[in-house]
Amino acid sequence: MGRALAITSKTKRFMRRAPVSKIIIPSDSSIKDAAKILTNGGLVAFPTETVYGLGADATNEAAVDSIFKAKGRPSFNPLIVHVESADKAKTLVKWSAQADAIAKKFWAGAITIILPKSDNCPVSENVTAGLSTLAVRVPSHPVALELLKAANTPIAAPSANTSGHVSPTTPAHVANDLKDAAEMILAAGACKIGLESTVLDLSAKAPCILREGSITASDIADCLGVEVACHNKNSAQPKSPGLLLSHYAPKKPLRLRAVDLSDGEGLLAFGSTKFMNISPQTHVKNLSEDGDLSEAAANLFAHLRALDATDCKTIAAMDIPKIGIGHAINDRLLRASRD
Ligand code: TXA
Ligand code: MG
Repeated sequence: MGRALAITSKTKRFMRRAPVSKIIIPSDSSIKDAAKILTNGGLVAFPTETVYGLGADATNEAAVDSIFKAKGRPSFNPLIVHVESADKAKTLVKWSAQADAIAKKFWAGAITIILPKSDNCPVSENVTAGLSTLAVRVPSHPVALELLKAANTPIAAPSANTSGHVSPTTPAHVANDLKDAAEMILAAGACKIGLESTVLDLSAKAPCILREGSITASDIADCLGVEVACHNKNSAQPKSPGLLLSHYAPKKPLRLRAVDLSDGEGLLAFGSTKFMNISPQTHVKNLSEDGDLSEAAANLFAHLRALDATDCKTIAAMDIPKIGIGHAINDRLLRASRD
């Protein structure tokens, strides 16, 4: 009897320590289970075409609070709300002709638009951190869309990393950062785009990009037929509260514009490394040996995490062309290189 009791309490201790996050293959039934977790106020990590998100029912204040706690995210940094269609978005925000043009051209897809909240918007106050505007996005990943349909509620979801760290592009990244914070991780491999969505503010007179992504300023300008500004990333008062922080950062210092290597540096390469003085000990991760910018974007966060996990002291990054999605890659590297 005594022995049985001892085993039981030891087992219980083990169970308390063991992570309860479950990495699950998406299926009709697991997506239904995930939707139930969300509608009961729990957290689910799920894949999108950009990065993995940490989702909660956007209408449930306590559930949204637990996102901020799990990430260690400052409460002044508002969240993006994911919906399954533009029609659902129209119930949450004050729609506009420009929003309609963007949604028709780019949704479902990697662009988030910011608009004034609708009257009687059901989204909980803490999602918008007290702002009168709301960020909305229709993701294109089939698992995200199925989850949205099954949960039948808007899902607030930041990237599923600890606040300030590199965004997660695989289920393992999510589990490493968030341990057991999500009740379930719907796992669908690596994210196709690998960079967070473009954030476009349509709440003021002129459209303004607050965060660059795979959909570029020129894509948006072509769609709207007007010039589109990119909010100055060096501004002391960024319009996107999240951009106040050092962001997307590996744990090790990152040096940009590397044309050679110092002792103890790991290399984040792009294209040919022929003229870099690479020793056999150097840890090298090449974003794209062929110089393909989409491939580089998809590899960026995984490669930064991989170099972080080596014994290199610092990371040196080669130049990335400022063309197309290269703008967004440069933006993330610049942020990652800041203290
Ligand atoms: O690709 C993505 O956008 C991913 C996936 C999961 O959808 N989500 C994501 O969320 O990157 P998060 O929370 O990591 O980044 C959202 C950014 C933050 O910089 C936040 O400050 C900004 O959007 N944001 C959200 N609502 C805003 C608002 N009302 N006004 C200005 N900026 C806002
Ligand atoms: Mg994030």
